[in-house]
Amino acid sequence: METRVIETRIHEEAGTNLGAELIRRGELVAFPTETVYGLGANGLDAAAVEKIFEAKGRPNDNPLIMHVSNKNEAKKLWGHIPKTLNALMDAFWPGPLTLIFNKSDRVPDAVTAGLPTVAVRMPQGKTANLLIRKAGVPIAAPSANLSGRPSPTSASHVFRDLNGRIPLILDGGECGFGIESTVLSLVGKPTILRPGAVTKEMIEAVIGPVELSDCLLKPLAEGKAALSPGMKYKHYAPNARVLVVLGEPKEAAKRISELYVQYSLEDLSCEIAATEQTARFYRGKNYTVLGDRNEPLTLCRNLFSALREMDERAEVILAEGVNAEGTGLAFMNRLLRAAGFEIENG
Ligand code: TXA
Ligand code: MG
Repeated sequence: METRVIETRIHEEAGTNLGAELIRRGELVAFPTETVYGLGANGLDAAAVEKIFEAKGRPNDNPLIMHVSNKNEAKKLWGHIPKTLNALMDAFWPGPLTLIFNKSDRVPDAVTAGLPTVAVRMPQGKTANLLIRKAGVPIAAPSANLSGRPSPTSASHVFRDLNGRIPLILDGGECGFGIESTVLSLVGKPTILRPGAVTKEMIEAVIGPVELSDCLLKPLAEGKAALSPGMKYKHYAPNARVLVVLGEPKEAAKRISELYVQYSLEDLSCEIAATEQTARFYRGKNYTVLGDRNEPLTLCRNLFSALREMDERAEVILAEGVNAEGTGLAFMNRLLRAAGFEIENG
């Protein structure tokens, strides 16, 4: 299959017209959102949804998020709408918050992997919104990477993973947030299953106390069922070994520099994921500055693309940990999963 790429900054109408036509015909379309690129199919067509799992090589017990262009469309996907759901849609949509609640009969089992609940979000951004509106159906979409690879934050990442497997990529440039949406379950006590740019504190300001799933910063305990099936798979992982060094910036940088020398002597090529605050400690070494430690969203924005790039050059990636608070939690969640939770102290 030939994969077409259409730049939506130049051809937005034509691109979204073709995309919507393909979606209605049961085909797959990769499209930009404010978080990462999605790989979309008609969410009401089980056969179309199956194609997503095939193209990504995704285990079919891992459910998908339904993407909608307005709140009424979302309401038809859930069985009923508690007050908290309404309040959260009003506060954060369109935006990087996915909401999970009991599903209605409209949602095929292929989307939810047989679960009685469905995840729904309304993405920000004109291309995604136009595509969904023109398709006239909710679009089921996971991140548009091969299963297990870092999520794509540009059309070239999608092309690299899915060229020849899907008919169309809508290229809307780089994604603003660079990590996936916050996933919040409202079944039982409100619980964050995946942290993102919408933080616990922001959600609590709207609906009161929110729990954090206990495997955000450590591996799922053996024998324990995953609240979110996605949690049990190795994720965001480059081929290189990733090692996270925790501690105060200066100490962490010192330890990273030692490890860099040690691995280099073993003939292993190394890359360092640095921050603005520590770059000066790495002169003469291969390093990439992700952003500002005090503004974790800047780190999130560059994390996946930097992992992909460093993976091209290195066998070992040494990364600094930051405080897992606020949006730092989302950054550390993705970084630790990319590292398979391999940690050192600085
Ligand atoms: O930002 C995002 O959320 C991106 C863009 C494309 O919208 N999408 C995304 O989808 O990250 P995906 O499939 O890569 O991640 C969805 C996560 C998975 O961990 C999945 O297990 C979980 O959400 N999930 C989906 N439906 C669920 C459900 N009913 N119950 C529990 N977890 C669910
Ligand atoms: Mg994904």
